[in-house]
Amino acid sequence: MHTITDYIIRERWEDFTTEEHDRWKFLFDRQMTIFQGRVAQEHIDSLKRLNISADRIPKFEEISKILKEHTGFEIAAVPGLVPEDIFFKMLKNRQFPSTTFLRTPDKIDYLQEPDIFHDIFGHIPLLVIPAFADYMEAFATIALKALERSAEDVIRAARIYWFTIEFGLIRQNGGLRTYGAGIVSSYKETIYCVEDPKPIRTQFDLARVMRTDYRIDDLQKNYFVIDSYEELFNATLQDHTALLDSLQKLPLIPAGTMIEGEENIPANTPL
Ligand SMILES: [Fe+2]
Repeated sequence: MHTITDYIIRERWEDFTTEEHDRWKFLFDRQMTIFQGRVAQEHIDSLKRLNISADRIPKFEEISKILKEHTGFEIAAVPGLVPEDIFFKMLKNRQFPSTTFLRTPDKIDYLQEPDIFHDIFGHIPLLVIPAFADYMEAFATIALKALERSAEDVIRAARIYWFTIEFGLIRQNGGLRTYGAGIVSSYKETIYCVEDPKPIRTQFDLARVMRTDYRIDDLQKNYFVIDSYEELFNATLQDHTALLDSLQKLPLIPAGTMIEGEENIPANTPL
């Protein structure tokens, strides 16, 4: 039986090279040039609150100290992807697992597995917002329930994470913004998700999200839009067994399709 502590490592910040700090700066600065009007204001503000800057790759202890004071979350350094049960248990304990390696120059625009830029620049900022931190823990509760039930239920729970924490959109200032870590750590998708007319954007609905198929190797075909982080948390305040039971017989909704009664939310006017 493995436990959380089996996966926790040290960040080894002192081992980062000047080239790696420079690469972090390149990624950070490049994202900043496109964030205004496309990324949720809370994400932009939280980078500052947590002292995550272009200057250097952040030290986990420094961020965790501030994060803990606000929401009780802390960063747990891990060697890479961890098993699902460990991942969900960590989130439930308000520990966010972060990798400690930075993408190499040949993968500067895209890599499939998470790296420190995705985890720290993408995921950590919103965890300083109480409603979002509560939602992260609530998601973990549903996921742990799914894990007790079946592999299909785990896939359904994973879709919640995908379409909100990784690829979610929020309405702000009369337009769409993204709060998803998978998007805010990607130059291309930060622009695409709010401005390109091709993908389908519909109002967030937890059960709908849990039935929706997604692509992991391309830009998303569906995005779900919320009005507030409280809306995400409130959606989790239901009987998880009843929710998972109700989805058993409903068919999968293919990526890039809409269902009856849904309205496509228009993209922002390109900046
Ligand atoms: Fe992620």
